[in-house]
Amino acid sequence: MKQKQLGTNGPMVSALGLGCMGMSDFYGPADRNESLATIQAAVDAGIQLLDTGDFYGMGHNELLIREALATIPREKLFIAVKFGALRAPDRSFLGVDTRPAAVKNALAYTLQRLGTDYVDLYQPARVDPQVPIEDTVGAIKEMVDAGYVRHIGLSEAGADTLRRASKVHPIAQLQIEYSLVSRHIEEEILPTARELGIAISAYGVLSRGLLSGHWTPERSSQAGREFRGHLPRFQGENLEKNLALVEALRGIAEEKGANVAQIATAWVISRGEDVIPLIGARKRSHLADALAALELVLDADDLTRIEAAVPKDAVAGTRYDAWQMNMLDSERS
Ligand SMILES: NC(=O)c1ccc[n+]([C@@H]2O[C@H](COP(=O)([O-])OP(=O)(O)OC[C@H]3O[C@@H](n4cnc5c(N)ncnc54)[C@H](OP(=O)(O)O)[C@@H]3O)[C@@H](O)[C@H]2O)c1
Repeated sequence: MKQKQLGTNGPMVSALGLGCMGMSDFYGPADRNESLATIQAAVDAGIQLLDTGDFYGMGHNELLIREALATIPREKLFIAVKFGALRAPDRSFLGVDTRPAAVKNALAYTLQRLGTDYVDLYQPARVDPQVPIEDTVGAIKEMVDAGYVRHIGLSEAGADTLRRASKVHPIAQLQIEYSLVSRHIEEEILPTARELGIAISAYGVLSRGLLSGHWTPERSSQAGREFRGHLPRFQGENLEKNLALVEALRGIAEEKGANVAQIATAWVISRGEDVIPLIGARKRSHLADALAALELVLDADDLTRIEAAVPKDAVAGTRYDAWQMNMLDSERS
C-alpha cells in the first residue's frame, strides 16, 4: 500500500488507517470474529495504522487489538491511542482529564491491556480546558523520552492549541473530523497544521455512515439509544435534507462505476498527501470499499461535480450534539 508521512520528519504509515472504534462502541453491536477478521484483512492489504481509544468500550477495543496481536507481529502495526475521556459504568461520558498524572496513569493501563511495551502514537481525545496543553504534551513527551510512546498527536484541537503544543514537542498528527459534509478545518486549522508540518488523521470520512449510501430514516429510528440516534444530522428534517445530498452523490458514483462510500472516501483521499483517512470499517466488505477508493482517480471535473452535488455548507445539523460541540477546541478557533 502507498505510504504517507505522518508530519514533517514523522514516520511513514499506510495511506489509509483503520479506525477500530465501532468494533467496541457507539454504533450498536459488533461481531467479534468479523472485527478480528477485518483487522487481519486490513493488515494483509498493507494497512498498519490502527486507531483506538482507551475509552472505546472502556478497554474493550484495546483488548480486541491485543487479540489481533496474537497473530499479527507487533512491528507490523502502528497503534494510535487516544486517552483522557472519562466514563461512568453506565457508559455515559463525564468529561476529560489530561493532567500529567492522568496521562501516565492512562498509558500504564493501556500498555497492560494491549500487552505491548510501547504505543506508536499517543494523543488526548479532547483538549482539556482545565489543563494547559503544554502540561499535557509535556507529560507525553516524558513518556516518549522513557520509550513508552513513539509519537504525539492531538484530537479535535484548534489552530492556537496546535501552535502551543508544537513548541513543546513535534506533533505528528491532528485527528479531526473531515469529510464532504464536515469541512470546517479548511479555513484555519488545516493551513495551520500544514504550516507546522502536522498531518491530518481524518475521521468521520463517511460522516459516521450518513454518507455510506446505505443510511435510511428507518435506521435512524432503529438507532434509538445508539450514538447516531442522537446526532443532529441523523434526525428529522435534517436527515431528509442530508439524504438528498447522498442521492446527488449516488448519481456521480454510478457514472464512475463506484458506490457512494467509495466516492466520499476518494474525495478525502484527494485532499492531499498529508491527509490520511481513518476508515471506520467493522466488516471486511466495508474495508474492501475503502481499499477500492484508493484506486479511484477523481479528476478536476469529477471534483467540481462532487462539490456541486454536496456544496461546502449544505449539510443540515451540527456534527455532534450541543454538549459535545461545546467540548471541541476545534470549534472555538
Ligand atoms: N478523535 C475523535 O474524536 C474521533 C471521533 C470518531 C471516530 N474517531 C476514529 O475514527 C474512526 C472512523 O470514524 P467513524 O467510524 O465515525 O467513520 P465513518 O467511516 O464516517 O463511519 C463508519 C460507519 O459507516 C458505515 N460504513 C463504513 N464503511 C461503509 C461502507 N463501505 N458501506 C456502507 N457503510 C459503511 C458503518 O456503519 P455500520 O457499521 O453501522 O454499517 C461504519 O460503522 C473511528 O473508528 C475512530 O478510530 C475519532
